[in-house]
Amino acid sequence: MQPVFRTARLTLAPRRMADLAACLAMDRDPEVTRFVTGPWADPVAHRAFVAARIRHRYPPGMGYWSVCTPAGFVGWILLTPDDLAGPEVEIGWRFLRAAWGQGFATEAARPVLDHALGTLGLAEVVADIDPANMASVRVAAKLGLRAGGSVPYAGRMVTRYVARPGGAPAGAGHAAVHRS
Ligand SMILES: CC(C)(COP(=O)(O)OP(=O)(O)OC[C@H]1O[C@@H](n2cnc3c(N)ncnc32)[C@H](O)[C@@H]1OP(=O)(O)O)[C@@H](O)C(=O)NCCC(=O)NCCS
Repeated sequence: MQPVFRTARLTLAPRRMADLAACLAMDRDPEVTRFVTGPWADPVAHRAFVAARIRHRYPPGMGYWSVCTPAGFVGWILLTPDDLAGPEVEIGWRFLRAAWGQGFATEAARPVLDHALGTLGLAEVVADIDPANMASVRVAAKLGLRAGGSVPYAGRMVTRYVARPGGAPAGAGHAAVHRS
């Protein structure tokens, strides 16, 4: 099951249907989905896509975490088989534009990455990032991911960043508080 994580400022809990509206609203900001291909412009397909991702049965300990401050939802972190198929396991991040630039993505991704490489014992976690997506590239760098090769994504080439056990700086200020 997916653990709940608490950091200094954030709570990460498994994403639920109750988070659907907040996730849809976030994706409707074209700046948020600028580098991510998806059915964002078709409300019916968009809702179906996100709902299916919430319902999907992920491998143990994986899935999406909704990230909240005490004021509410600010974004999500994912840890899933790449494109749901694998074999690579992907980490990803998406936050409300209003929440950008405060270190939230890095703070939230750290316990998920530690969980992946520690508790789950994964040999490797990847993040495929458009080289023009400077904020995401910076998050990957702050987490200690290293640029590998290029991989195809939605008809273009993106950079594959890789994290391996021991390769990332030690996380701090968080703990898994329970398993749900
Ligand atoms: C990527 C994203 C999650 C980052 O969220 P965030 O909470 O702002 O991230 P952080 O604050 O932890 O770190 C962002 C870093 O990028 C830097 N940054 C932001 N915009 C930048 C830009 N245009 N050029 C260079 N660096 C930039 C910030 O200064 C910060 O680095 P710093 O701590 O060294 O100053 C957020 O921008 C987002 O949701 N983008 C849309 C969704 C997306 O593209 N997801 C990734 C798909 S691969």
